[in-house]
Amino acid sequence: MKTILLLNGPNLNLLGQRQPEIYGRETLADVEALAREACAEGFSVEAKQSNWEGQLIDWIHEARGAAAGIVINPGALTHTSVALLDALNAFDGPVIEVHVSQVHKREKFRHHSYVSKRADAVIAGLGVDGYGAAVARICKLAG
Ligand code: DQA
Repeated sequence: MKTILLLNGPNLNLLGQRQPEIYGRETLADVEALAREACAEGFSVEAKQSNWEGQLIDWIHEARGAAAGIVINPGALTHTSVALLDALNAFDGPVIEVHVSQVHKREKFRHHSYVSKRADAVIAGLGVDGYGAAVARICKLAG
C-alpha cells in the first residue's frame, strides 16, 4: 500500500466555519473523506493539519522515503514560507499544491506562492473538489 500525505496548514481546521462565502461550507473532515474516495486502489491517504509551520515541516521530513506523494494546502504559509519550500524540495515524490479559493482573483499578496516553485501542479478555485483532483493525479503519477 502506497501512502499519500494530505497536509493542510494554518486555519484550515476551520474549513466550513471560516469565511464560508470564500471557502465554502465543507469541513476538513469532508475534505479527508473526499480525498480517500478519490484514492486509486493500492493507495491510502494519511491526512494531517497543523497551524504550526515547524510541525508541517517535520511531517514533510517524515514523508521522505515513506510517502508516494504529497497534496498540500499550505494556507497563508503559501505566500510567506521559504522553509516550507525547502522542506518540499527535500522530498522526492510528486507534490500538488491546492487552494480552495481562486487565489489569483483575491488580494495581491495571495498571488505569489513559494510552494509553487516546487509543486508539480497547482489547483486553485475548485473548492474542496481540488483535493480530490490532486489525490487522483498523485495516484497516476506515483502508480
Ligand atoms: C488558501 C488561500 C490562502 O491565501 C489563505 O491564506 C488560506 C487558504 C485556500 O485554500 O484558498 O488560508 O490556501
